[in-house]
Amino acid sequence: MHILGISGSLRKDSFNTAALRACTGVLPPGVTMSIFDIAPIPLYNEDLRAQGLPEPVQQLREQIRAADALVIATPEYNYSVPGVLKNAIDWASRPPEQPFDGKPIALIGATPGGLGTSRAQYHLRQVFVYLNGQVLNRPEVFISGAPNKFDADGRLTDAATSENLGKMLAVLVERAKRSAG
Ligand SMILES: Cc1cc2nc3c(=O)[nH]c(=O)nc-3n(C[C@H](O)[C@H](O)[C@H](O)COP(=O)(O)O)c2cc1C
Repeated sequence: MHILGISGSLRKDSFNTAALRACTGVLPPGVTMSIFDIAPIPLYNEDLRAQGLPEPVQQLREQIRAADALVIATPEYNYSVPGVLKNAIDWASRPPEQPFDGKPIALIGATPGGLGTSRAQYHLRQVFVYLNGQVLNRPEVFISGAPNKFDADGRLTDAATSENLGKMLAVLVERAKRSAG
């Protein structure tokens, strides 16, 4: 079982990327996880697509396809999904054989604010309705007050959040096993 993590933040000290790294420390036994860097993905342009999918987009699509499940960590920008993350999803979603179809997906998010990216996550759920991603309904993971839950090196220090991530990953892996039949 392999999980692919995608962070919707490009910044070096991102809480969302740090939350994905924290996931790698609480994986169920026998499960591996890697994190895809969406920074090299260009802005979506149908003219570019007509010339063939850019290399980073091909890599993203292949890694999504090869993964048994996804964990997507979204920041919340203006109550919604950051453009860079939506852009990566838009590229990956183009036919043929869009790789989100039927894929088990867990959404998480971290913010210094109080509502834990809930508004962004609900927008992201809506996107995956169209793409037929199998987004977990629960447990939900909303990491609020992030600067108090990660240390200066981006390590998760909050035990309750770590426990929540572990529970979510266990549910995600069970879902992926059922999907695999
Ligand atoms: C353009 C912009 C809009 C933002 N809007 C929100 C928001 O609606 N809700 C929120 O909780 N935080 C908002 N923030 C603050 C982000 O949650 C914060 O920058 C966070 O650290 C971003 O995630 P990262 O640490 O993974 O980069 C916004 C930040 C930016 C740059």
